[in-house]
Amino acid sequence: MRHGFITLEGPDGSGKSTQAALLAEKLQRMGLPVVLTREPGGTEVGVRLREMLLDPDTQLTVMTEILLMAADRAQHVEKVIKPALENNMIVICDRYIDSSLAYQGFGLLGDIRPVLGINEAAIQGIWPNLTILLDVEPKVGLRRHAALSPHRSSGDLDRIEQRDLAFHQRVRDGYHALQNIYKERFAVIDTTLLEIEEVDQKVWEVVVQRLKVGIC
Ligand code: TMP
Repeated sequence: MRHGFITLEGPDGSGKSTQAALLAEKLQRMGLPVVLTREPGGTEVGVRLREMLLDPDTQLTVMTEILLMAADRAQHVEKVIKPALENNMIVICDRYIDSSLAYQGFGLLGDIRPVLGINEAAIQGIWPNLTILLDVEPKVGLRRHAALSPHRSSGDLDRIEQRDLAFHQRVRDGYHALQNIYKERFAVIDTTLLEIEEVDQKVWEVVVQRLKVGIC
């Protein structure tokens, strides 16, 4: 098989983290070397950046938010993603550059160009081989998110989840725009009416088809 860099993307509550873990488990069971990681927070520095970025009490300007997300990514690429790919491991990353393009670009600025420029510097040319977009309507996603985290009340959402529905709608529409821009590497699964196992099956089909896992 061809080793690869797979990212999972989607609005909050799309089930990415669950699916990333299920996919990693499956590949590991096949004896393949896998690194499962996430953004923000895939490094020690990233964990601290994540705390700051998601704390509702942090006051950030839009540009600071863009730069901190990109700083997390730069550290992550250099310390985790690049070395793993150089060692022919499969990297599964829960969110990557497309999250910044969707959330900060489409969601906050209404323009992805400045976000793209900054992030191109952060990723050193390391684009995913496959990006699986788990699509969900924002209302459904945020409801699902609350149900999966019963310890958190609705007043307990993180700094980004707390944004209004219009923001989350721009993020979702942004992902659809990205899917059109980067047709080659994007695969979309509409998760709205699907159970976790059904999404898992579809994710697997996409990975087998696109990355030829298990075939060569
Ligand atoms: P998570 O809960 O999926 O781990 O993501 C944390 C939040 O951070 C989520 O609301 C999306 C947001 N985010 C951005 O706004 N920009 C980014 O570049 C990344 C990686 C995440």
